[in-house]
Amino acid sequence: MKILITGASSGIGEELARLYAVKENELYLLARREDRLQKLKSELANHAKAVKIIVCDVSEFDKLQQKMRELDEIDMVILNAGISLGHSLEITPFDEFKRLYDVNILSNHAILEILLPRFLEKKNGKIVFISSLASLFSMPSSKVYSSSKRALNAYAEGLRYKYESHGIKVINILPGFIKSELTDKNKFYMPFLLDTHTGAVAIKKAIDKNKKFYAFPFRFYFLIKLFLSLPPFLKHRVIKVLFK
Ligand SMILES: NC(=O)c1ccc[n+]([C@@H]2O[C@H](COP(=O)([O-])OP(=O)(O)OC[C@H]3O[C@@H](n4cnc5c(N)ncnc54)[C@H](OP(=O)(O)O)[C@@H]3O)[C@@H](O)[C@H]2O)c1
Repeated sequence: MKILITGASSGIGEELARLYAVKENELYLLARREDRLQKLKSELANHAKAVKIIVCDVSEFDKLQQKMRELDEIDMVILNAGISLGHSLEITPFDEFKRLYDVNILSNHAILEILLPRFLEKKNGKIVFISSLASLFSMPSSKVYSSSKRALNAYAEGLRYKYESHGIKVINILPGFIKSELTDKNKFYMPFLLDTHTGAVAIKKAIDKNKKFYAFPFRFYFLIKLFLSLPPFLKHRVIKVLFK
């Protein structure tokens, strides 16, 4: 299988690359940090059929789309590249907001605008989105990140309805906290935090089983669902206590 993984230079993407590095698979690893991608390529070269790196900033859309046009035929794309702005109760500067939406949302469509027609032509292809449990509820301190991931959920859902009868599998993964450069910046207690390997293994299992929607760890997901089922005034009170 030919697999493109965005955000493969660290964290979840890097670990997924390791897990998919087997003799049947050709890996295309995309991120900005070339040194890290080169190192990973050397590590995985003997395990995968082939490893190619694509050095690219996903928010430079023209360059990104050019890279996609130059790509060989792909069977699965894991849209994992993502950023958070950390946690802040201040008003988000517009440039920061835009940067996050460029990376977390728009880059995915820039990629799919090129790859989707090819998937449709061969009536086969897998699109994996890495959303977040944070898409299900919006904390005052991370509303921009949460909103981008909720937008991703809506986009994934619509794509699935439109294209699943055309042989395209759309998989949306909503992880809780997983150790990575992104979560290393968090200064608060992260409930149910998973190590990177355990998190990536869970994600790979869901992808391999073609789960359309996979939110985990289950206990964290369950608590969030419970919170979401509260009447609005109660939800508001809980949030007020947590973010006073
Ligand atoms: N860790 C968690 O708890 C958690 C939970 C839910 C969802 N997620 C999601 O999982 C995904 C991976 O995050 P992670 O936790 O593994 O964080 P991470 O270690 O910071 O990895 C982020 C990856 O995205 C790449 N990236 C960021 N900006 C980019 C850009 N402009 N162009 C190209 N690549 C870019 C980074 O590579 P370069 O810096 O080299 O470009 C890196 O490889 C994200 O979408 C995140 O929102 C994470």
